[in-house]
Amino acid sequence: MKILAIETSCDETAAAVLSDTKVLSSIKYTQSDHAVWGGVVPSIAKREHEKTIGPVVQKALQDAKTQIEDVDAIAVTVGPGLAIALEVGIKTAKDLATKYNKKFIAVNHIEGHILSPLLNAEITFPALALVVSGGHTELDFVEEIGRYRILAEKIDDALGEALDKAARLLELPYPGAPLLEAAARDGNPKAYALPLPMAGQEDQGHFSYSGLKSAFARLVTTTGIDKTNDLAAAFQNRAFQHLINVTKKSIEKLETVPHDLLVGGGVIANQELRSRLTKMAEELGMAVHFAPMDVTGDNAAMIGLAAFYKAQKNQFVEDLTKVDRLPRLRVDKLV
Ligand code: KG4
Ligand code: ZN
Repeated sequence: MKILAIETSCDETAAAVLSDTKVLSSIKYTQSDHAVWGGVVPSIAKREHEKTIGPVVQKALQDAKTQIEDVDAIAVTVGPGLAIALEVGIKTAKDLATKYNKKFIAVNHIEGHILSPLLNAEITFPALALVVSGGHTELDFVEEIGRYRILAEKIDDALGEALDKAARLLELPYPGAPLLEAAARDGNPKAYALPLPMAGQEDQGHFSYSGLKSAFARLVTTTGIDKTNDLAAAFQNRAFQHLINVTKKSIEKLETVPHDLLVGGGVIANQELRSRLTKMAEELGMAVHFAPMDVTGDNAAMIGLAAFYKAQKNQFVEDLTKVDRLPRLRVDKLV
């Protein structure tokens, strides 16, 4: 089955063509106009999506050596994400599905991140999945593909968002998390004392970064930013420690611990975090599967993969007029 997938939930305009689970093409245009504002501006995202979605879809089809007529279904992210950004992808997908009389699959963006490691790994279910991105931090129990239970989730800032904000305090350009990682490599994580979020309450299933971010802002005000490497290392260390502590505690609470841990989302590009999660999984006797590096950040290949599994279960949208953007969609809700 050939699927054309479209993703416009945030600041990447992306399209991909898959043949079953094989990615034939994956095109992504990362909008750069947000950098001067230090974060994603929804109205700019919408305008940029509108400008680029057509060419991005064309290029995806071209690279996959596929005509739109040969595609069996059109898939699109319907949420969660920025409402006016989601809208652009949904409209494009609806127009194509109507014009070419194609089946239509509505996809949850988080499910895309959860399943992204399966682009190069095969596992058996149940499993666990950790998603760490700019908008999400959550640990899910995956009964089987399509059935998710949230074990732990963010109660304020997401991990990627917190790393980007810390980087901004160090005057690194947006999105700063990769630059923070580079700076942290040459720094001493113990140079400064920062609070460990939710210390002693790690079993409550809450990821929280706003307190750490405020403490970091105060620290930077007093120290200045001359010692960037040490400051970056101290922040990243605490941020990752918190992620691991809550994840580990939430897993240890389970009656039976599944064998596999899937890990996806933009923050997983971080090598330090990959090695800490690998160590954690070893301690828990689990096998960890990271999203391949080219699908850690937002992309349409993971949306196409999630769509393929929905298509296998015949989960197509019957009435296109009922498809709407779902900015706050959760992964335990079906679409
Ligand atoms: O998955 P993603 O592209 O978008 C959302 O769904 O939110 O994740 C983007 C996030 C941003 O916060 C970005 O700064 C972060 O992933 N990120 C990183 C690294 N590369 C990207 N965080 C830590 N280390 C990196 N190397
Ligand atoms: Zn994402």
